[in-house]
Amino acid sequence: MQLVDTCIHHNLQSDIMMIPAIGHYIVNSGGKRLRPLLTLLTAKLFAYQGERHVPLSVVVEFIHTASLLHDDVVDSSDHRRGAPSANGVWGNQASVLVGDYLFSRAFQMMVADGDMAMLKLMSDVTNALAEGEVLQLSRTFHLQMTEAECLEVIERKTAVLFKAATEVGAHVAGQAERVVVDMAAYGMCLGVAFQLMDDALDYLAAAEDAGKPVGHDLEEGKITLPLIYAMQQDQALVARVEIVAERGCYEAGDREWVRAKVVENGGVDYAMQRAKDYAERAKCLLPEQANVEVKQLLADLADFSAHRPY
Ligand code: IPE
Ligand code: IPE
Ligand code: MG
Ligand code: MG
Repeated sequence: MQLVDTCIHHNLQSDIMMIPAIGHYIVNSGGKRLRPLLTLLTAKLFAYQGERHVPLSVVVEFIHTASLLHDDVVDSSDHRRGAPSANGVWGNQASVLVGDYLFSRAFQMMVADGDMAMLKLMSDVTNALAEGEVLQLSRTFHLQMTEAECLEVIERKTAVLFKAATEVGAHVAGQAERVVVDMAAYGMCLGVAFQLMDDALDYLAAAEDAGKPVGHDLEEGKITLPLIYAMQQDQALVARVEIVAERGCYEAGDREWVRAKVVENGGVDYAMQRAKDYAERAKCLLPEQANVEVKQLLADLADFSAHRPY
């Protein structure tokens, strides 16, 4: 992971000063580095001895970081990783443009790696991620959202990148197609668990723990699983959500009221249980023949995704 951080900083160099300034700002603010960790561990699971996994894991982290820069603009979010978000400090234009820089740097790094299969995989995933964010936008305040529709958004906007992280690791370690497919499915399930927890934490966590605004999703028009489930139990909640949707924002007291109702009606518990189901599915996909210690770490990361406090 130290090599990953060195590689990240190396690839943020540019003579256009605003690029390293914003790049280092967001990278140094923290972040769990979960996706590059998954790539490294997957490569290690199959005893990979080379060095390609380090820059390739940075490719995945750059695509993630770029998507966060864009996401905070789209979500009008002023905090990220416990600090003011880049758009809060430099403005929306700078965040969008540096996000573009990170996307294109990721593709330059893949070209340098020189493996067409990897380029195909990552370009498909980046495209799916963009589709996922647009799909979510097109379902803003779509109060009839079903669980299946909600999972479709989650798979596309978040889980595909986790899938890419593990798929890249298995591919770089030269594994047979069947093994790559299973590791990709592990990443996908872990990613769904991760986003379901993120959606639960939006109704549950304290902002200091999350390092980003919480209680914000409904206000942004995001109809997530905790809310979907709670609305099925409570007509008063549906009525209040309809008013918020009509108005397009919260008024005094709305945030706390909605939050309490979603918790009270079991929406948070339900989403967390679904996250745990996905984590269990992820663990079952880990291969029989592999490094036992690394396999345990990957199982622990699946559990972390569904139990994480931040
Ligand atoms: C945030 O991802 C975006 C989601 C998919 C929910 P992370 O929670 O992995 O963000 P960092 O990198 O740790 O800040
Ligand atoms: C995940 O969605 C963001 C991306 C996939 C880019 P969210 O909007 O829920 O992520 P946070 O909560 O802002 O981290
Ligand atoms: Mg967001
Ligand atoms: Mg969120």
